[in-house]
Amino acid sequence: MQRRDLFRVLAAAGLGQLTSAHGATPRLEADPFQLGVASGSPTASSVVLWTRLMPLNPLNNPWARETLDVRWELAADPGFAQVLRAGTVQALPLLAHSVHVELQGLPADTHFFYRFLIGDATSPVGRTRTLPTADQAVDRLRLGLASCQRLGNGLFGAYTRLIEDGVDLIAFVGDYIYESGAWPTAALPRGLTPASDLGGYRLHHETHKLEPTLQAAHAAVPWLVTWDDHEVVNDYAGAPLQGLSSGDARRRAAAYQAYYEHMPLPLSALRRGLAGLTQTGDELRLYGRQAWGRLAQLHLLDCRQYRSAPACTGLRGLVAPDDCAGLQRPDRTLLGSEQEAWLLDGLADTERPWQLMLQTTMVAPRRIPFGGGHRVWIDGWDGYPASRQRLLERLQAQRTPGAVFLGGDLHENWATEIRQPDGKPVATEFVGAGITMKSFFPRMTPDILAANPHARYADGSACGYALIDVTPQRLRCDFRVVDSLATNTPAVRTAASFTVEAGQPRLVKT
Ligand SMILES: [Fe+2]
Repeated sequence: MQRRDLFRVLAAAGLGQLTSAHGATPRLEADPFQLGVASGSPTASSVVLWTRLMPLNPLNNPWARETLDVRWELAADPGFAQVLRAGTVQALPLLAHSVHVELQGLPADTHFFYRFLIGDATSPVGRTRTLPTADQAVDRLRLGLASCQRLGNGLFGAYTRLIEDGVDLIAFVGDYIYESGAWPTAALPRGLTPASDLGGYRLHHETHKLEPTLQAAHAAVPWLVTWDDHEVVNDYAGAPLQGLSSGDARRRAAAYQAYYEHMPLPLSALRRGLAGLTQTGDELRLYGRQAWGRLAQLHLLDCRQYRSAPACTGLRGLVAPDDCAGLQRPDRTLLGSEQEAWLLDGLADTERPWQLMLQTTMVAPRRIPFGGGHRVWIDGWDGYPASRQRLLERLQAQRTPGAVFLGGDLHENWATEIRQPDGKPVATEFVGAGITMKSFFPRMTPDILAANPHARYADGSACGYALIDVTPQRLRCDFRVVDSLATNTPAVRTAASFTVEAGQPRLVKT
């Protein structure tokens, strides 16, 4: 973080007095890098390196109010014999001593190793990479799709297998923490109290980041991150902040700040510093797009922060569409008008064979049989049908080739063809299972699948992740499921695989 940028954040937060002019090197009684390292938000010329200094006992932190100087190194080899770049960055108490190093001007399509140092302590070594340039011919991309990690449910051993699958990037599409906390379990012996303020959200992120499997996954490859509701509060709609009490706005700002502190995001994500997080439209910017050479465009979407309020309420978010006044209103939006326009413009790219939309829930309609009729779950895209329809019409009108939605949230594996009302398929979709979150009603899944003929596969019996392999000719999804949440080294198997041929928005079971 550059000094002038730091001061911009601090000025916006009104907390400039908390920092000293120069950082310090404290007496470190134990490893301050116990939360590991991470990298993310990669482009063809840049990447963000992350760590956070934390004492062994956060309740007795001798450097709690000190700004610390942290050295970073980027190298071509894991032994750091050939250090390519190095520098010093300040870790601020205001940001929980998190460190975000934004490297610019890097060569494209290149792997690097990185680490942090303070005093006698050295962090674990991370491995990262830059993306291919937008005009580069590339013949493959392997993406790991992960979501929904509730530590109280079990261990994150799925990441052990995900790394072994040799992915280029991990896309995390929501529910990195679960704010409602957890009773003590084998995976989380001390449990977690619900989070509602900055200290609480930080504690949730810290607790997750202490998991060795999650640390290893962050250290292995850069991540693209977006969020869903549980990074803040269940089923919230972020946009109409004016409808929130000041307490709600403070809670949201605390959750957003803790998220920034623990993710490899650039400082520019804080559009107006920390103070902006409490104001409508001055958000934590997560959405963005990057090309993977001439092969694919990756559109990372934020489906939570700008969405319209729910059209109605129902038992567990399930409503009969005819009973939900306003559900079809055209002004209701899942992405917010600005992000929606940005996405629709971006889909004009017909140069590349694949447009991958990394988003949070399931885009395809999902009719849930209920008492002789059906209901829909309005916290997902089914709660915003006009917003979805605008997106599908644009895909059809532009003949966008290779539109594929990749999501999570259901805690089930789903493969669907997304069709226009006249039955014409315009996109395909894969939704991956949760890392540890299980399906709420796995025995209902076959009935729900049968009620949705555009869906080809649904299974809620296991946790895991999806592996997405992309070539110029086809895209393949392997639903990878683990056999246990009680170990960091579970067995993994492929529960089902589908391919999509370039230019053909249809699923082929393999
Ligand atoms: Fe979830």
